[in-house]
Amino acid sequence: MWWLLIAGAVILGALVILAIYDLVQKRHAILRNFPIVGHLRYALESIGPELRQYIVTDNDEERPFTRDERRWVYATAKQQNPYFGFGTNNHLEEPDYMVIRHAAFPYQPPKADEHGAHRLPSSKVLGEWRNRPGAFRPESIVNISAMSFGSLSAQAIEALNRGASIARCMHNTGEGGVSSYHRKGGDLIWQIGTGYFGCRTPDGGFDAAQFEETVGSGPIKAIEIKMSQGAKPGLGGLLPGAKVTAEIAEARGVPVGETVVSPNRHQTFSDVASLIDWVEELASISGLPVGIKSAIGEEDFWRELAEGMAATGRGPDFITVDGGEGGTGAAPMVFSDHVALPYRLGMVTVYKSFVAAGLQEKVTFIGSGKLGFPQQALMAMSLGADMINVAREAMIAIGCIQAQKCHTDHCPVGVATQNSWLTRGLDPANKSTRVANYVDALRADLLRLAWACGVPHPSLVPPSAIEFLATPDNAVSLANRFGYDASWKSVDPDAVAKLEGIFESGKG
Ligand SMILES: Cc1cc2nc3c(=O)[nH]c(=O)nc-3n(C[C@H](O)[C@H](O)[C@H](O)COP(=O)(O)O)c2cc1C
Repeated sequence: MWWLLIAGAVILGALVILAIYDLVQKRHAILRNFPIVGHLRYALESIGPELRQYIVTDNDEERPFTRDERRWVYATAKQQNPYFGFGTNNHLEEPDYMVIRHAAFPYQPPKADEHGAHRLPSSKVLGEWRNRPGAFRPESIVNISAMSFGSLSAQAIEALNRGASIARCMHNTGEGGVSSYHRKGGDLIWQIGTGYFGCRTPDGGFDAAQFEETVGSGPIKAIEIKMSQGAKPGLGGLLPGAKVTAEIAEARGVPVGETVVSPNRHQTFSDVASLIDWVEELASISGLPVGIKSAIGEEDFWRELAEGMAATGRGPDFITVDGGEGGTGAAPMVFSDHVALPYRLGMVTVYKSFVAAGLQEKVTFIGSGKLGFPQQALMAMSLGADMINVAREAMIAIGCIQAQKCHTDHCPVGVATQNSWLTRGLDPANKSTRVANYVDALRADLLRLAWACGVPHPSLVPPSAIEFLATPDNAVSLANRFGYDASWKSVDPDAVAKLEGIFESGKG
Protein backbone atom coordinates (compact mmCIF):
# COMPACT_ATOMS: atom_id res chain seq x y z
CA MET A 1 0.00 0.00 0.00
CA TRP A 2 2.87 2.32 0.86
CA TRP A 3 4.21 2.14 -2.71
CA LEU A 4 0.86 3.38 -4.01
CA LEU A 5 1.14 6.41 -1.76
CA ILE A 6 4.71 7.07 -2.98
CA ALA A 7 3.64 6.74 -6.64
CA GLY A 8 0.70 9.08 -6.01
CA ALA A 9 2.98 11.63 -4.33
CA VAL A 10 5.48 11.45 -7.24
CA ILE A 11 2.71 11.95 -9.83
CA LEU A 12 1.20 14.81 -7.84
CA GLY A 13 4.64 16.43 -7.48
CA ALA A 14 5.25 16.11 -11.24
CA LEU A 15 1.87 17.67 -11.98
CA VAL A 16 2.54 20.57 -9.61
CA ILE A 17 5.93 21.20 -11.29
CA LEU A 18 4.27 21.00 -14.73
CA ALA A 19 1.51 23.40 -13.65
CA ILE A 20 4.08 25.91 -12.31
CA TYR A 21 6.07 25.61 -15.54
CA ASP A 22 2.90 26.11 -17.64
CA LEU A 23 1.94 29.20 -15.63
CA VAL A 24 5.30 30.94 -15.94
CA GLN A 25 6.26 30.02 -19.53
CA LYS A 26 5.36 32.56 -22.23
CA ARG A 27 5.48 30.56 -25.47
CA HIS A 28 2.03 28.95 -25.34
CA ALA A 29 -0.97 31.04 -24.26
CA ILE A 30 -3.18 27.98 -23.99
CA LEU A 31 -0.87 26.39 -21.37
CA ARG A 32 -0.53 29.65 -19.46
CA ASN A 33 -4.32 29.96 -19.28
CA PHE A 34 -5.10 26.27 -18.80
CA PRO A 35 -2.13 24.64 -17.05
CA ILE A 36 -1.89 20.82 -17.45
CA VAL A 37 -5.20 20.37 -19.34
CA GLY A 38 -3.84 22.53 -22.17
CA HIS A 39 -1.44 19.67 -22.97
CA LEU A 40 -4.38 17.51 -23.99
CA ARG A 41 -4.95 19.78 -26.97
CA TYR A 42 -1.37 19.23 -28.17
CA ALA A 43 -1.61 15.48 -27.57
CA LEU A 44 -4.85 15.25 -29.56
CA GLU A 45 -3.44 17.43 -32.33
CA SER A 46 -0.37 15.23 -32.66
CA ILE A 47 -2.44 12.07 -33.10
CA GLY A 48 -5.10 13.83 -35.21
CA PRO A 49 -3.96 12.29 -38.52
CA GLU A 50 -4.07 8.78 -37.03
CA LEU A 51 -7.49 9.43 -35.42
CA ARG A 52 -8.93 10.70 -38.66
CA GLN A 53 -7.29 7.90 -40.63
CA TYR A 54 -8.52 5.02 -38.51
CA ILE A 55 -11.70 6.28 -36.92
CA VAL A 56 -13.28 9.38 -38.37
CA THR A 57 -12.99 9.53 -42.15
CA ASP A 58 -14.84 7.54 -44.80
CA ASN A 59 -13.14 5.13 -47.18
CA ASP A 60 -12.97 7.71 -49.96
CA GLU A 61 -12.38 10.88 -47.97
CA GLU A 62 -8.74 11.02 -47.00
CA ARG A 63 -6.06 12.92 -48.87
CA PRO A 64 -3.74 12.60 -50.64
CA PHE A 65 -4.70 8.93 -50.91
CA THR A 66 -8.04 7.60 -49.72
CA ARG A 67 -8.34 4.48 -47.59
CA ASP A 68 -9.75 2.62 -50.60
CA GLU A 69 -6.77 3.62 -52.72
CA ARG A 70 -4.28 2.59 -50.07
CA ARG A 71 -6.17 -0.65 -49.50
CA TRP A 72 -5.92 -1.43 -53.20
CA VAL A 73 -2.15 -0.89 -53.15
CA TYR A 74 -1.69 -2.97 -49.95
CA ALA A 75 -3.87 -5.79 -51.29
CA THR A 76 -2.14 -5.97 -54.67
CA ALA A 77 1.28 -5.70 -53.02
CA LYS A 78 0.50 -8.63 -50.72
CA GLN A 79 -1.22 -10.52 -53.53
CA GLN A 80 -4.38 -10.61 -51.49
CA ASN A 81 -7.76 -10.51 -53.16
CA PRO A 82 -7.97 -6.91 -54.46
CA TYR A 83 -11.53 -7.33 -55.67
CA PHE A 84 -14.43 -5.42 -54.09
CA GLY A 85 -17.77 -7.16 -53.63
CA PHE A 86 -21.41 -6.12 -53.99
CA GLY A 87 -20.80 -3.15 -56.30
CA THR A 88 -19.40 0.35 -56.10
CA ASN A 89 -19.66 2.62 -53.05
CA ASN A 90 -18.99 5.68 -55.18
CA HIS A 91 -21.49 8.32 -56.23
CA LEU A 92 -21.35 7.80 -59.97
CA GLU A 93 -23.22 10.95 -60.79
CA GLU A 94 -21.05 13.42 -58.92
CA PRO A 95 -19.46 16.24 -60.94
CA ASP A 96 -15.94 15.40 -62.15
CA TYR A 97 -16.53 11.66 -61.75
CA MET A 98 -14.49 9.71 -64.28
CA VAL A 99 -16.14 7.16 -66.56
CA ILE A 100 -14.35 5.01 -69.11
CA ARG A 101 -16.36 4.30 -72.28
CA HIS A 102 -15.68 0.63 -73.02
CA ALA A 103 -16.03 -0.89 -76.49
CA ALA A 104 -19.02 -2.99 -77.50
CA PHE A 105 -16.54 -5.59 -78.74
CA PRO A 106 -13.49 -5.74 -76.46
CA TYR A 107 -10.08 -6.54 -77.85
CA GLN A 108 -9.26 -10.23 -77.63
CA PRO A 109 -5.55 -10.67 -76.93
CA PRO A 110 -3.64 -13.29 -78.94
CA LYS A 111 -2.44 -15.07 -75.82
CA ALA A 112 -4.90 -14.09 -73.14
CA ASP A 113 -3.28 -14.39 -69.75
CA GLU A 114 -5.54 -12.83 -67.17
CA HIS A 115 -3.56 -13.89 -64.15
CA GLY A 116 0.13 -14.27 -64.93
CA ALA A 117 2.91 -11.69 -64.72
CA HIS A 118 2.19 -8.91 -67.14
CA ARG A 119 4.60 -7.59 -69.71
CA LEU A 120 3.58 -4.16 -70.77
CA PRO A 121 6.33 -2.51 -72.79
CA SER A 122 6.23 1.08 -73.96
CA SER A 123 4.81 1.69 -77.39
CA LYS A 124 7.75 4.04 -78.10
CA VAL A 125 11.49 3.40 -78.22
CA LEU A 126 13.21 5.80 -75.83
CA GLY A 127 15.93 7.75 -77.62
CA GLU A 128 14.96 6.54 -81.11
CA TRP A 129 14.26 9.97 -82.58
CA ARG A 130 17.81 11.17 -81.81
CA ASN A 131 19.41 7.81 -82.66
CA ARG A 132 21.06 7.55 -79.26
CA PRO A 133 23.39 4.52 -79.09
CA GLY A 134 21.65 3.49 -75.86
CA ALA A 135 18.10 3.81 -77.25
CA PHE A 136 15.82 1.08 -75.96
CA ARG A 137 12.17 0.13 -75.57
CA PRO A 138 11.27 0.30 -71.86
CA GLU A 139 9.94 -3.09 -70.80
CA SER A 140 7.38 -1.57 -68.47
CA ILE A 141 5.13 1.45 -68.89
CA VAL A 142 4.91 1.65 -65.08
CA ASN A 143 8.15 2.71 -63.40
CA ILE A 144 9.31 3.90 -59.99
CA SER A 145 9.53 7.68 -59.73
CA ALA A 146 12.39 9.80 -58.42
CA MET A 147 12.92 9.65 -54.65
CA SER A 148 16.45 10.18 -53.41
CA PHE A 149 18.50 8.32 -50.82
CA GLY A 150 18.30 10.86 -48.01
CA SER A 151 14.58 11.53 -48.37
CA LEU A 152 14.06 7.75 -48.23
CA SER A 153 15.94 5.29 -46.04
CA ALA A 154 18.61 2.92 -47.34
CA GLN A 155 16.22 0.01 -46.73
CA ALA A 156 13.45 1.67 -48.72
CA ILE A 157 15.76 2.45 -51.66
CA GLU A 158 17.03 -1.13 -51.64
CA ALA A 159 13.46 -2.52 -51.52
CA LEU A 160 12.43 -0.33 -54.46
CA ASN A 161 15.49 -1.24 -56.50
CA ARG A 162 15.15 -4.98 -55.89
CA GLY A 163 11.43 -4.64 -56.61
CA ALA A 164 12.20 -2.91 -59.92
CA SER A 165 14.44 -5.81 -60.84
CA ILE A 166 11.70 -8.36 -60.07
CA ALA A 167 9.02 -6.36 -61.91
CA ARG A 168 11.41 -5.56 -64.79
CA CYS A 169 10.68 -1.88 -64.52
CA MET A 170 13.01 1.08 -64.04
CA HIS A 171 13.92 2.84 -60.82
CA ASN A 172 14.59 6.59 -60.88
CA THR A 173 17.38 7.48 -58.44
CA GLY A 174 16.00 10.88 -57.44
CA GLU A 175 18.36 13.82 -57.28
CA GLY A 176 20.51 12.53 -54.40
CA GLY A 177 22.99 10.59 -56.55
CA VAL A 178 23.46 6.86 -57.12
CA SER A 179 24.04 5.02 -53.84
CA SER A 180 25.02 1.41 -53.21
CA TYR A 181 21.35 0.75 -52.35
CA HIS A 182 20.43 1.70 -55.92
CA ARG A 183 22.67 -1.06 -57.20
CA LYS A 184 20.68 -4.13 -56.21
CA GLY A 185 19.74 -5.32 -59.68
CA GLY A 186 17.10 -2.86 -60.90
CA ASP A 187 17.71 -0.72 -64.00
CA LEU A 188 18.17 2.95 -63.20
CA ILE A 189 17.22 6.32 -64.54
CA TRP A 190 19.80 8.63 -63.02
CA GLN A 191 18.28 11.95 -62.09
CA ILE A 192 20.49 15.04 -62.02
CA GLY A 193 19.15 18.03 -60.13
CA THR A 194 20.64 21.45 -59.51
CA GLY A 195 23.02 20.01 -56.89
CA TYR A 196 24.69 17.81 -59.57
CA PHE A 197 25.07 15.01 -57.03
CA GLY A 198 27.30 12.30 -58.43
CA CYS A 199 28.75 14.67 -61.06
CA ARG A 200 29.63 17.66 -58.96
CA THR A 201 32.66 19.92 -58.68
CA PRO A 202 33.69 20.91 -55.12
CA ASP A 203 31.98 24.30 -55.59
CA GLY A 204 28.71 22.74 -56.74
CA GLY A 205 29.08 22.97 -60.53
CA PHE A 206 28.80 20.20 -63.15
CA ASP A 207 31.77 17.85 -63.56
CA ALA A 208 31.70 16.06 -66.95
CA ALA A 209 34.44 13.55 -66.05
CA GLN A 210 32.61 12.46 -62.90
CA PHE A 211 29.39 12.27 -64.88
CA GLU A 212 31.00 9.81 -67.28
CA GLU A 213 32.43 7.79 -64.39
CA THR A 214 29.05 7.50 -62.63
CA VAL A 215 27.29 6.52 -65.88
CA GLY A 216 29.79 3.68 -66.29
CA SER A 217 29.37 2.52 -62.70
CA GLY A 218 25.89 1.01 -62.74
CA PRO A 219 22.95 -0.16 -64.78
CA ILE A 220 21.99 3.36 -65.83
CA LYS A 221 19.67 3.25 -68.85
CA ALA A 222 18.76 6.93 -69.15
CA ILE A 223 19.48 10.35 -67.66
CA GLU A 224 16.79 12.69 -66.33
CA ILE A 225 17.55 16.38 -65.81
CA LYS A 226 15.32 17.61 -63.02
CA MET A 227 14.10 21.12 -63.67
CA SER A 228 11.34 21.04 -61.08
CA GLN A 229 8.84 18.77 -59.32
CA GLY A 230 5.12 19.29 -58.82
CA ALA A 231 5.18 19.56 -55.03
CA LYS A 232 7.80 22.33 -54.88
CA PRO A 233 8.41 23.93 -58.26
CA GLY A 234 10.87 26.78 -58.49
CA LEU A 235 12.43 25.93 -55.14
CA GLY A 236 15.87 24.71 -54.27
CA GLY A 237 16.65 22.39 -51.40
CA LEU A 238 18.86 22.09 -48.37
CA LEU A 239 20.20 18.95 -46.72
CA PRO A 240 21.31 19.79 -43.16
CA GLY A 241 24.82 18.68 -42.23
CA ALA A 242 23.46 16.39 -39.50
CA LYS A 243 21.81 14.28 -42.20
CA VAL A 244 24.90 14.04 -44.41
CA THR A 245 26.11 10.63 -43.25
CA ALA A 246 29.12 8.93 -44.83
CA GLU A 247 26.89 6.91 -47.16
CA ILE A 248 24.82 9.90 -48.24
CA ALA A 249 28.00 11.96 -48.69
CA GLU A 250 29.49 9.25 -50.90
CA ALA A 251 26.40 9.01 -53.13
CA ARG A 252 26.22 12.77 -53.50
CA GLY A 253 29.94 13.50 -53.76
CA VAL A 254 29.92 16.00 -50.88
CA PRO A 255 31.84 16.22 -47.57
CA VAL A 256 30.42 14.29 -44.59
CA GLY A 257 28.49 16.41 -42.07
CA GLU A 258 28.40 19.60 -44.15
CA THR A 259 25.11 21.22 -45.13
CA VAL A 260 24.50 20.97 -48.89
CA VAL A 261 22.42 23.44 -50.82
CA SER A 262 20.67 22.73 -54.13
CA PRO A 263 20.00 26.05 -55.86
CA ASN A 264 16.57 26.76 -57.35
CA ARG A 265 17.87 26.58 -60.93
CA HIS A 266 20.58 24.93 -62.98
CA GLN A 267 23.95 26.60 -63.56
CA THR A 268 24.55 24.67 -66.80
CA PHE A 269 21.76 26.27 -68.83
CA SER A 270 19.68 29.41 -68.70
CA ASP A 271 17.32 29.28 -71.69
CA VAL A 272 15.83 26.85 -74.19
CA ALA A 273 18.85 26.85 -76.53
CA SER A 274 21.36 26.16 -73.74
CA LEU A 275 19.06 23.51 -72.23
CA ILE A 276 18.99 21.70 -75.58
CA ASP A 277 22.79 22.01 -75.79
CA TRP A 278 23.25 20.50 -72.34
CA VAL A 279 20.87 17.63 -73.12
CA GLU A 280 22.95 16.90 -76.21
CA GLU A 281 26.21 17.15 -74.23
CA LEU A 282 25.02 14.60 -71.66
CA ALA A 283 23.73 12.34 -74.43
CA SER A 284 26.97 12.48 -76.37
CA ILE A 285 29.11 11.72 -73.30
CA SER A 286 26.89 8.89 -72.09
CA GLY A 287 25.32 7.57 -75.30
CA LEU A 288 22.08 7.33 -73.33
CA PRO A 289 18.63 8.83 -73.85
CA VAL A 290 18.35 12.09 -71.90
CA GLY A 291 15.09 13.64 -70.70
CA ILE A 292 13.82 16.43 -68.51
CA LYS A 293 11.41 16.38 -65.60
CA SER A 294 9.31 19.40 -64.82
CA ALA A 295 6.19 20.66 -63.19
CA ILE A 296 4.19 22.87 -65.53
CA GLY A 297 3.91 26.60 -64.95
CA GLU A 298 4.89 29.17 -67.58
CA GLU A 299 3.36 28.06 -70.89
CA ASP A 300 5.69 29.82 -73.34
CA PHE A 301 8.64 27.71 -72.27
CA TRP A 302 7.00 24.56 -73.64
CA ARG A 303 6.09 26.16 -76.95
CA GLU A 304 9.65 27.50 -77.32
CA LEU A 305 11.15 24.15 -76.37
CA ALA A 306 9.03 22.23 -78.88
CA GLU A 307 9.71 24.79 -81.61
CA GLY A 308 13.44 24.79 -80.80
CA MET A 309 13.55 21.00 -80.97
CA ALA A 310 11.64 20.91 -84.25
CA ALA A 311 13.89 23.58 -85.78
CA THR A 312 17.18 21.95 -84.75
CA GLY A 313 16.23 18.26 -84.65
CA ARG A 314 17.93 18.14 -81.23
CA GLY A 315 16.77 17.96 -77.64
CA PRO A 316 15.31 15.73 -74.93
CA ASP A 317 14.30 12.15 -75.68
CA PHE A 318 11.67 12.19 -72.98
CA ILE A 319 9.71 14.66 -70.89
CA THR A 320 8.37 13.78 -67.46
CA VAL A 321 5.35 15.91 -66.60
CA ASP A 322 4.88 16.05 -62.84
CA GLY A 323 1.47 17.25 -61.65
CA GLY A 324 1.08 19.82 -58.89
CA GLU A 325 -0.59 17.06 -56.86
CA GLY A 326 2.78 15.26 -56.66
CA GLY A 327 4.57 14.36 -53.44
CA THR A 328 7.79 15.43 -51.74
CA GLY A 329 9.91 14.66 -48.71
CA ALA A 330 9.51 18.26 -47.50
CA ALA A 331 8.19 21.50 -48.97
CA PRO A 332 6.56 24.75 -47.90
CA MET A 333 2.77 24.27 -47.92
CA VAL A 334 2.06 27.11 -50.32
CA PHE A 335 4.29 25.52 -52.97
CA SER A 336 2.64 22.11 -52.63
CA ASP A 337 -0.85 23.61 -52.56
CA HIS A 338 -0.72 26.45 -55.05
CA VAL A 339 2.26 26.37 -57.42
CA ALA A 340 2.19 24.43 -60.76
CA LEU A 341 -0.67 22.97 -62.75
CA PRO A 342 -2.28 19.68 -61.81
CA TYR A 343 -1.33 16.75 -64.06
CA ARG A 344 -4.25 16.97 -66.49
CA LEU A 345 -3.81 20.64 -67.35
CA GLY A 346 -0.02 20.34 -67.30
CA MET A 347 0.05 17.42 -69.71
CA VAL A 348 -2.41 19.15 -72.05
CA THR A 349 -0.15 22.24 -72.14
CA VAL A 350 2.97 20.25 -72.95
CA TYR A 351 1.38 17.77 -75.35
CA LYS A 352 -0.34 20.48 -77.38
CA SER A 353 2.96 22.34 -77.78
CA PHE A 354 4.57 19.20 -79.13
CA VAL A 355 1.62 18.46 -81.41
CA ALA A 356 1.96 21.98 -82.84
CA ALA A 357 5.64 21.27 -83.53
CA GLY A 358 4.85 17.83 -85.01
CA LEU A 359 6.98 16.03 -82.40
CA GLN A 360 4.38 14.24 -80.27
CA GLU A 361 5.11 10.82 -81.79
CA LYS A 362 8.88 11.21 -81.47
CA VAL A 363 9.33 12.26 -77.86
CA THR A 364 8.36 9.90 -75.02
CA PHE A 365 6.09 11.48 -72.42
CA ILE A 366 6.03 10.26 -68.83
CA GLY A 367 3.31 11.29 -66.40
CA SER A 368 3.32 11.46 -62.60
CA GLY A 369 1.09 12.86 -59.86
CA LYS A 370 -1.23 10.36 -58.16
CA LEU A 371 -1.37 8.28 -61.33
CA GLY A 372 -0.59 4.90 -59.74
CA PHE A 373 -4.15 3.58 -60.05
CA PRO A 374 -5.53 1.94 -63.19
CA GLN A 375 -8.16 4.54 -64.08
CA GLN A 376 -5.81 7.46 -63.35
CA ALA A 377 -3.01 5.89 -65.35
CA LEU A 378 -5.35 5.28 -68.29
CA MET A 379 -6.59 8.87 -68.13
CA ALA A 380 -2.98 10.09 -68.07
CA MET A 381 -2.07 7.99 -71.08
CA SER A 382 -5.09 9.07 -73.07
CA LEU A 383 -3.81 12.65 -72.74
CA GLY A 384 -0.45 11.70 -74.20
CA ALA A 385 1.67 9.97 -71.56
CA ASP A 386 3.49 6.88 -72.83
CA MET A 387 4.59 5.80 -69.38
CA ILE A 388 3.59 6.36 -65.75
CA ASN A 389 5.86 7.03 -62.79
CA VAL A 390 4.74 6.08 -59.29
CA ALA A 391 6.34 7.48 -56.13
CA ARG A 392 4.07 7.53 -53.07
CA GLU A 393 2.07 4.53 -54.32
CA ALA A 394 5.37 2.61 -54.41
CA MET A 395 6.08 3.86 -50.88
CA ILE A 396 2.68 2.56 -49.79
CA ALA A 397 3.49 -0.81 -51.38
CA ILE A 398 6.59 -1.06 -49.16
CA GLY A 399 4.67 -0.17 -46.00
CA CYS A 400 4.04 3.63 -45.92
CA ILE A 401 0.91 4.33 -43.87
CA GLN A 402 0.51 7.96 -45.01
CA ALA A 403 1.56 9.26 -41.61
CA GLN A 404 2.79 12.38 -43.50
CA LYS A 405 5.88 12.70 -41.34
CA CYS A 406 8.47 12.52 -44.15
CA HIS A 407 9.78 15.99 -43.24
CA THR A 408 10.32 15.15 -39.55
CA ASP A 409 12.65 12.13 -39.80
CA HIS A 410 10.08 10.27 -37.64
CA CYS A 411 8.45 8.11 -40.33
CA PRO A 412 7.03 5.32 -38.15
CA VAL A 413 7.52 2.59 -40.76
CA GLY A 414 11.13 3.35 -41.69
CA VAL A 415 10.43 4.41 -45.28
CA ALA A 416 11.16 8.16 -45.18
CA THR A 417 13.64 8.47 -42.32
CA GLN A 418 17.32 7.97 -41.56
CA ASN A 419 16.60 6.95 -37.94
CA SER A 420 18.15 3.51 -37.55
CA TRP A 421 15.66 2.43 -34.86
CA LEU A 422 12.78 3.12 -37.26
CA THR A 423 14.42 1.71 -40.41
CA ARG A 424 15.27 -1.63 -38.80
CA GLY A 425 11.61 -2.62 -39.14
CA LEU A 426 11.74 -2.48 -42.94
CA ASP A 427 12.96 -5.70 -44.52
CA PRO A 428 14.09 -4.90 -48.10
CA ALA A 429 13.73 -8.49 -49.34
CA ASN A 430 10.13 -8.83 -48.20
CA LYS A 431 9.12 -5.36 -49.36
CA SER A 432 10.78 -5.75 -52.76
CA THR A 433 8.29 -8.45 -53.74
CA ARG A 434 5.46 -6.24 -52.52
CA VAL A 435 6.38 -3.32 -54.75
CA ALA A 436 6.91 -5.70 -57.67
CA ASN A 437 3.47 -7.26 -57.11
CA TYR A 438 1.88 -3.82 -57.00
CA VAL A 439 3.57 -2.71 -60.25
CA ASP A 440 2.48 -5.93 -61.91
CA ALA A 441 -1.12 -5.54 -60.71
CA LEU A 442 -1.26 -1.98 -62.04
CA ARG A 443 0.02 -3.15 -65.41
CA ALA A 444 -2.50 -6.00 -65.43
CA ASP A 445 -5.45 -3.69 -64.77
CA LEU A 446 -4.20 -1.19 -67.34
CA LEU A 447 -4.03 -3.95 -69.92
CA ARG A 448 -7.51 -5.19 -69.06
CA LEU A 449 -8.86 -1.66 -69.31
CA ALA A 450 -7.24 -1.22 -72.74
CA TRP A 451 -8.75 -4.50 -73.91
CA ALA A 452 -12.16 -3.45 -72.57
CA CYS A 453 -11.79 -0.28 -74.65
CA GLY A 454 -11.15 -2.43 -77.73
CA VAL A 455 -7.39 -1.88 -78.17
CA PRO A 456 -4.32 -4.00 -77.37
CA HIS A 457 -2.33 -1.40 -75.45
CA PRO A 458 -3.29 1.44 -73.10
CA SER A 459 -1.39 3.99 -75.18
CA LEU A 460 -3.99 3.46 -77.92
CA VAL A 461 -6.95 4.44 -75.75
CA PRO A 462 -8.07 7.83 -77.11
CA PRO A 463 -9.10 10.75 -74.90
CA SER A 464 -12.60 10.44 -76.37
CA ALA A 465 -12.98 7.22 -74.34
CA ILE A 466 -12.53 8.99 -71.00
CA GLU A 467 -15.41 11.12 -69.81
CA PHE A 468 -15.92 13.30 -66.79
CA LEU A 469 -19.35 14.23 -65.55
CA ALA A 470 -19.95 17.97 -65.72
CA THR A 471 -23.40 17.64 -64.18
CA PRO A 472 -25.30 14.44 -63.31
CA ASP A 473 -26.79 14.37 -66.80
CA ASN A 474 -23.96 15.69 -68.89
CA ALA A 475 -20.61 14.00 -69.44
CA VAL A 476 -17.75 15.59 -71.37
CA SER A 477 -14.94 13.55 -72.87
CA LEU A 478 -11.32 14.57 -72.32
CA ALA A 479 -11.04 15.04 -76.07
CA ASN A 480 -13.82 17.64 -76.07
CA ARG A 481 -12.83 19.23 -72.81
CA PHE A 482 -9.24 19.87 -73.86
CA GLY A 483 -9.75 20.19 -77.62
CA TYR A 484 -7.80 17.05 -78.58
CA ASP A 485 -8.08 16.07 -82.22
CA ALA A 486 -8.61 12.41 -83.10
CA SER A 487 -5.74 12.54 -85.62
CA TRP A 488 -3.15 13.29 -82.90
CA LYS A 489 -3.55 9.87 -81.41
CA SER A 490 -5.64 7.67 -83.60
CA VAL A 491 -6.17 3.95 -83.22
CA ASP A 492 -4.87 3.19 -86.66
CA PRO A 493 -4.43 -0.43 -87.81
CA ASP A 494 -0.65 0.02 -88.23
CA ALA A 495 -0.23 1.09 -84.63
CA VAL A 496 -2.27 -1.90 -83.47
CA ALA A 497 -0.24 -4.30 -85.61
CA LYS A 498 3.02 -2.82 -84.29
CA LEU A 499 1.96 -3.28 -80.68
CA GLU A 500 0.68 -6.81 -81.25
CA GLY A 501 4.12 -7.50 -82.72
CA ILE A 502 5.77 -6.28 -79.53
CA PHE A 503 3.67 -8.65 -77.42
CA GLU A 504 4.05 -11.70 -79.64
CA SER A 505 7.77 -11.47 -80.37
CA GLY A 506 8.57 -10.65 -76.75
CA LYS A 507 11.10 -8.14 -78.07
CA GLY A 508 12.05 -5.38 -75.65
C1 LIG B 1 9.69 11.25 -50.35
C2 LIG B 1 9.70 11.81 -51.74
C3 LIG B 1 10.90 12.19 -52.31
C4 LIG B 1 10.93 12.71 -53.61
N1 LIG B 1 12.13 13.04 -54.19
C5 LIG B 1 12.16 13.49 -55.47
C6 LIG B 1 13.39 13.76 -56.12
O1 LIG B 1 14.49 13.55 -55.59
N2 LIG B 1 13.34 14.22 -57.39
C7 LIG B 1 12.15 14.43 -58.06
O2 LIG B 1 12.15 14.83 -59.22
N3 LIG B 1 10.97 14.14 -57.47
C8 LIG B 1 10.94 13.68 -56.21
N4 LIG B 1 9.75 13.34 -55.64
C9 LIG B 1 8.51 13.48 -56.45
C10 LIG B 1 8.13 12.13 -57.09
O3 LIG B 1 9.17 11.62 -57.89
C11 LIG B 1 6.86 12.26 -57.97
O4 LIG B 1 7.15 13.09 -59.06
C12 LIG B 1 5.66 12.82 -57.26
O5 LIG B 1 5.57 12.38 -55.92
C13 LIG B 1 4.36 12.40 -57.98
O6 LIG B 1 4.18 11.02 -57.97
P1 LIG B 1 3.20 10.27 -56.93
O7 LIG B 1 1.92 11.01 -56.94
O8 LIG B 1 3.09 8.88 -57.51
O9 LIG B 1 3.83 10.30 -55.60
C14 LIG B 1 9.71 12.85 -54.34
C15 LIG B 1 8.50 12.45 -53.74
C16 LIG B 1 8.48 11.94 -52.47
C17 LIG B 1 7.17 11.50 -51.88
